[in-house]
Amino acid sequence: MGTGNLYLRNCWYIAALPNEIGDEPLGRVYLDDPVVLFRDENGQIAALEDRCCHRHLPLSLGKIVDGGIQCGYHGLRFDPTGDCVEVPGQSRVPPGASVRSYPVAERHNCIWIWMGDADLADTDLIPDIFWREDPDWVAWGALWHAKCSYNLLIDIQLDNTHAPYVHPDTLGSGAIVDTPPKVDRREDGIGVARWMMDVAPSPTFARALGTEENVDRWLIWDFTPPSLCAFDIGCAYAGTGAEKGDRSQGITMHTAHFMTPETKNTCQYFWSVGRNFKIDNDQVTAAMTEEFTKIFSEDVAIVEAQQKSLDAATGWLQTDVNLDAPILQARQILDRRIAAEENA
Ligand code: FES
Ligand SMILES: [Fe+2]
Repeated sequence: MGTGNLYLRNCWYIAALPNEIGDEPLGRVYLDDPVVLFRDENGQIAALEDRCCHRHLPLSLGKIVDGGIQCGYHGLRFDPTGDCVEVPGQSRVPPGASVRSYPVAERHNCIWIWMGDADLADTDLIPDIFWREDPDWVAWGALWHAKCSYNLLIDIQLDNTHAPYVHPDTLGSGAIVDTPPKVDRREDGIGVARWMMDVAPSPTFARALGTEENVDRWLIWDFTPPSLCAFDIGCAYAGTGAEKGDRSQGITMHTAHFMTPETKNTCQYFWSVGRNFKIDNDQVTAAMTEEFTKIFSEDVAIVEAQQKSLDAATGWLQTDVNLDAPILQARQILDRRIAAEENA
């Protein structure tokens, strides 16, 4: 094992949503590193260390000038690659005057950043949340700041048994707790599938499918490091063959949760939901946006309270129960990757 690095560095993280980056530089913290994001003259995103190499003012307090960023203290200007290209009052830029730049990419209606070795940044490794920009799907979501370790938000996403307690009026249904999961362990991830046959629909699905009749319901999730929790959820009229692959009598939704650590105990929480039914119905989209905003805020309230409680105590012990197994396995996979990166 390594010396306890908290984060995986050689991977893509969601840095921001595209509409967050306008005419002003945006200062953020990822993996304890301050970063400034801005768009150059061609609209391409640049990500630089948010610390001027002169006297260390955060560059995010400066402004965008000629496609670069001008420090708000003495006016040194940096191009999108991080090189200083102008020093007011002198014609020569001191050799080596630069700040670190980070690989960035815009895909699936998200801005991704690579916080590790830039030579390893391969855009093929960006998680495939295609439905965020697929014409057959409608997707919505948000990026929130949460006062908790990113690990706690991963845990709650992978813990399907909290629904009846945390989301009683939406997702909650005892069927989840009573249905044993099928677990698929991979070298670099873990998948869990729960099929709940001939059960009452959850309130959310009853509304979406427009029925109170029994359904076959599925909840399939997949975790891949560093923090992608991707869900395939839905239900179909009972006995119509969804489990065998025919979902024509049902509805499917995808949700993705992706946590970008800011510091040890704070993170950015990105969530998104997509559906491929009634995609042109804005009323359904508005109602579902409201509903899922409520559901995921309920999660955040839990994990932020949990973080406070963890911070307040020392030497605590925790009891593990059966439902924790997939969560502990996901944590092991992430820890293994972090240790491998550290030892490399
Ligand atoms: S601190 Fe940035 S220009 Fe002086
Ligand atoms: Fe939840």
